[in-house]
Amino acid sequence: MKLQARSYIDFKTLDTVLNGFDGALVVDETGRIVVYTDNYAEVAGLPKECVVGKYVLDVFPDSRMMEVINTGKPIYIDLWQAGAETVFVCRYPIVAEGEVVGAVAVCVFRYLDEARKFAARVGSMGRELQYYKNQLRKLSGAKYSFDTIIGASQAIMATKQSAEPMVKARTPVLILGETGTGKELFAHAIHQASPRRDRPFIRVNCASIPENLVESELFGYEEGAFSGARKGGKPGKFELANGGTIFLDEINELPYHIQAKLLRVLQEGEIDHVGGTDLSYIDVRVLSATSADLGELIKEKRFREDLYYRINAFQLRIPPLRDRIDDIPLICDHLIDNSNSELGTNVIRVDSSVLDLFSRYQWPGNVRELRNVIQRACLIAGNGIIRLEHLPPEFAAELETRQVNQSQGLEAAIHNAEKEQLLKVLGAVGWNRNRASEMLGINRTQLYRKMKKHDLLKRKQCEPNM
Ligand SMILES: Nc1ncnc2c1ncn2[C@@H]1O[C@H](COP(=O)(O)OP(=O)(O)O)[C@@H](O)[C@H]1O
Ligand SMILES: [Mg+2]
Repeated sequence: MKLQARSYIDFKTLDTVLNGFDGALVVDETGRIVVYTDNYAEVAGLPKECVVGKYVLDVFPDSRMMEVINTGKPIYIDLWQAGAETVFVCRYPIVAEGEVVGAVAVCVFRYLDEARKFAARVGSMGRELQYYKNQLRKLSGAKYSFDTIIGASQAIMATKQSAEPMVKARTPVLILGETGTGKELFAHAIHQASPRRDRPFIRVNCASIPENLVESELFGYEEGAFSGARKGGKPGKFELANGGTIFLDEINELPYHIQAKLLRVLQEGEIDHVGGTDLSYIDVRVLSATSADLGELIKEKRFREDLYYRINAFQLRIPPLRDRIDDIPLICDHLIDNSNSELGTNVIRVDSSVLDLFSRYQWPGNVRELRNVIQRACLIAGNGIIRLEHLPPEFAAELETRQVNQSQGLEAAIHNAEKEQLLKVLGAVGWNRNRASEMLGINRTQLYRKMKKHDLLKRKQCEPNM
């Protein structure tokens, strides 16, 4: 036999309790109205004696109480016309011993305007939030996604693919590659694709901060930490990146004693300000990049091995441009578009003779060097097609040597080619001998001898690493 509401519920007590609400109605398992509070009667404009004891749909044909009884499921928020008033109503089943023995409706008459305003505000806050999230994504520092990394060569596709598992994780990534290969671009893209994309992306170029400021730049300082300290102290890059990503570019340049501190931050997730005593807990994902051979630096005791293992959970190697020459035409088109919109030039494309030369060139400065060459050529050409004469002198020299080489003895040709390559690589790394020897695949002593042979020791040119 079906359970009955009246065996479980004292309707009179319930009526008294529910009268404390704005309005309430209770039906039993058959849909008969058993409770109808005084204040509900007042608003609905129907006296109690016309309602209590009646079948709910006979009195309120639009009522959804039978739906609640039949399904056993509540209808949390609904609008209901009670007499002249529209009210909010919540309907719940009354369950005893696992069976539905009735249903209760509780209405809110008061504060309806407030409730409506609140609902509208929540709605517009949601839209506003989305707007700010989009803005933040644009401003947060990470500008590039994987789609903006140009290239369809197998080498670049494989690199993008190997970055995929690094996107979701929180683990550190070490990005390796020669200068100008796009390491920073990949760091941006990883952040952009990660769940942290709406949080800050903070880049720190470890090579460009004076050694005595590195610590306070990274970890901040308290007021009065040292003479000249800013009033109120200053937050460090780690705090600024909290919840997001910090990108430690050229991490090999980090002073040795700071490396120990960084290791502690990575291990324990806590920083203490310079001159401060309180510890701040932080949640920052660390991406780092270097074009140096960290293995070699570890041997020379210039980079901490324990830090290396910590930042190297994932390793992403960006191939040099000469290993993806198929991408050069695509990248040129992209760079020409950029030049046209940023420099106001009107260049159409590069000539095939130029592409041919580009595909044979070694590109020691990689995509950055290509970008500089294209920008310069766009400015010189102004419009139309970029031809050989729009290229910088290195290329003219390269062409000439190529032509002269044909009539030269083998030894002289080798000698010239060696000097040319030394000059190119040294120029690309700002005459940094460590990096040059690494790129040339010879040790420092061999590099020194070759520089001496070609009378390059006294030349101290410096190209800024843009
Ligand atoms: N695949 C690519 N597509 C488009 N632009 C690129 C690509 N790779 C590098 N660049 C551009 O080349 C320049 C150098 O890239 P960057 O990420 O700073 O190199 P790295 O950090 O390895 O020295 C930047 O202007 C970057 O936008
Ligand atoms: Mg860089």
